[in-house]
Amino acid sequence: MRVRRAVTIGRKMETERDVTRVLVVDDEELQRTALASMIKLWGYAVETAADGQEALEKLASFDAHVIVTDLNMPRMNGQELLKRLKEDGDAPPAIVQTAYGSLETAVNMVHDLGAFWFLEKPVQSQALRLLLERAATHEKLAEHAERLERQLSNQGLLGEMVGSSPKMREVFSLIQQVAPSRAAVLITGESGTGKELAARAIHALSPRRGGPFVALNCAAMPDSLMESELFGHEKGAFTGAVDRRAGCFELAQNGTVLLDEIGDMPVALQAKLLRVLEDSRVRRLGGKSEIQLDVRILAATNSPLEAAIREGRFREDLFYRLNVFPIPLPPLRDRKDDLPSLAAALLGDLNRKHGTKVTDVSKEVLERFRAYNWPGNVRELRNVVERAVILAGEGTILPSHLSASFGGSGSTAPSAPAAAASNSEELRIPVGSTIEQAERALIELTLEHTRHNKTRAAEVLGISQKTLFNKLKEYGAQTAGA
Ligand SMILES: Nc1ncnc2c1ncn2[C@@H]1O[C@H](COP(=O)(O)OP(=O)(O)OP(=O)(O)O)[C@@H](O)[C@H]1O
Ligand SMILES: [Mg+2]
Repeated sequence: MRVRRAVTIGRKMETERDVTRVLVVDDEELQRTALASMIKLWGYAVETAADGQEALEKLASFDAHVIVTDLNMPRMNGQELLKRLKEDGDAPPAIVQTAYGSLETAVNMVHDLGAFWFLEKPVQSQALRLLLERAATHEKLAEHAERLERQLSNQGLLGEMVGSSPKMREVFSLIQQVAPSRAAVLITGESGTGKELAARAIHALSPRRGGPFVALNCAAMPDSLMESELFGHEKGAFTGAVDRRAGCFELAQNGTVLLDEIGDMPVALQAKLLRVLEDSRVRRLGGKSEIQLDVRILAATNSPLEAAIREGRFREDLFYRLNVFPIPLPPLRDRKDDLPSLAAALLGDLNRKHGTKVTDVSKEVLERFRAYNWPGNVRELRNVVERAVILAGEGTILPSHLSASFGGSGSTAPSAPAAAASNSEELRIPVGSTIEQAERALIELTLEHTRHNKTRAAEVLGISQKTLFNKLKEYGAQTAGA
């Protein structure tokens, strides 16, 4: 039944995307046509059937969003119809019309057969109209969710996360399971495996998605600053606190906080953090009153916390508080099947960023990607593809767009063709050259490769366009074209 509906939906979507389809089932002809024309007037597409049997037949080609059915009918009654649809696992919401005396049956149908609601005969048109609207919204939401789910699983996507390998599917499933809850999640994985991306996906799939997502990197700041970043401070709380400031928990009120690189948080702060997590309350440094928090906590780390606990650098009680639901992210080398889809997704993203028109990655390049170990994981892949996109500008990424040293050290296959990079890619600088000469040679070679696109050349070289322009002026190389 699923398949039938999916197919029908696909076929009908072009023409009838927004029209809600209603099937009216009633054995009394007058009643049936009167109902049908009234519902049509309200803007629905309507089909009719004289009993349950005919309804099933109609449904094979008419993909109803809502069914309005009578109870007592010859051949197959309304109850049997709903039972059959339920068994098929794909019943659209049904509004049951009941005659005097069959109220109990109708109530049971709502309970046992999932009927949407019932209406006593004679049916009040306003009540029916309202119920139809509700039932249709309900069904369309379900259909939308189903279509989304199907798209996600077909493309191996979760938000911005790409991956269809079994390992990534497992990660997606964990994210989908935990997202709707309030549970603390500890995301672990090597650098560049997508921990922050996973945290954002959890937030985006949670009921808090409308609230803020605030990430605090515990490794990137001095200990003295971190306390105030976490909890906030009042004006004059310490020297330099010239203004009152909200901490990350307050900023994330009704949303999600990601405590990134949590393993780097100083032990003294860990105790304070634990207290905030347990009380769901925070007090700014130098503040008097406490602020009630409604914040979901996610934490990420690339160093195993178990080792830090053994060495006394991480509090065990905090670990248990954060590790309610662990999500380990696999390193890229363990899911190389994801390389083509990752590369394709990165191309799209990087084309937008650089205004380039690169369409794909050549087979040879993908082979070299496969042979490589990717110690820097997806972030490293992104960097490699970014450089290649800038150099290629359009068309296909070829081995010549990879840096000459690519695959040298991290390669798993000793015979990886790293040294096979074309000569025009390599710069040979004889000992005895000055820095200036070397720099000029590199700039000129890069320009050649970007077909004299200075914006791209500056990006590859990691210098500003202005610097590049000044250097070219110096070399008297303005002949390089626009
Ligand atoms: N599954 C994925 N699909 C698409 N892009 C990804 C995926 N995983 C990571 N990325 C990209 O790789 C880069 C690194 O990801 P992210 O910052 O989430 O990693 P991280 O694990 O937090 O790294 P670090 O430990 O260094 O902070 C980002 O540009 C991100 O968009
Ligand atoms: Mg990170």
